[in-house]
Amino acid sequence: MQLLHLDSSVLGAASVSRQLSAEIVARQRVLHPGLQVVYRDLAADPALHLTGTHMAAWQGAQVEDEVITADLVKGNAYLSELLAADIVVIGAPMYNLSIPTPLKSWIDRIAIAGKTFHYTSIGPEGLLVGKKAFVASSRGGIYAQGSPRAAIEHQESYLLALLAFLGMTDTTVVRAEGLAMGADVKDAAVGQALQDIAAFAA
Ligand SMILES: Cc1cc2nc3c(=O)[nH]c(=O)nc-3n(C[C@H](O)[C@H](O)[C@H](O)COP(=O)(O)O)c2cc1C
Repeated sequence: MQLLHLDSSVLGAASVSRQLSAEIVARQRVLHPGLQVVYRDLAADPALHLTGTHMAAWQGAQVEDEVITADLVKGNAYLSELLAADIVVIGAPMYNLSIPTPLKSWIDRIAIAGKTFHYTSIGPEGLLVGKKAFVASSRGGIYAQGSPRAAIEHQESYLLALLAFLGMTDTTVVRAEGLAMGADVKDAAVGQALQDIAAFAA
């Protein structure tokens, strides 16, 4: 079995989403002995934003630019790693109501028609069926369903919509929110998230 582990927080060792994603991976290792883990720190080593040169390369054009050539290789590796994974764990903090841009750059490389979804006569259909995804979500404020800010939450809702678009509907969100609302709120949120992870069954 293979697991793809992604982190995208810029806060390094202080990051809650990194702490939670690492715990999810550790739990999956217990549940699936022999699990192979591929790790990508998207904040430390992000893909470039897409350019016209990327688009031309995808249409078969020759690329002279060495930086973009290396970046295209990275994007292909992202796709291969995702296709090979049985389980995907995504560390995803909320940045400005949405996800960090390196995670969006990763998505821009793996959401590829003909590879991870395709167009049919009744619309697009995801091709990544049978994979399990975990989202380690962290945020400074509170945006959970029923809260006053729920309607402006475009982090978890976007990620889950994107994963579902690609066929990944077996998704679990582990959330720690209110992290900027005082030490007590933060400790309780992180403690609950860690308990949720410890309770995961295979
Ligand atoms: C650039 C940036 C933008 C942020 N935007 C939001 C936001 O829109 N809403 C929010 O509740 N928290 C926001 N935060 C706070 C983070 O979501 C919070 O610190 C969270 O713990 C970050 O995850 P991490 O601990 O994994 O780095 C932002 C933090 C940063 C660094």
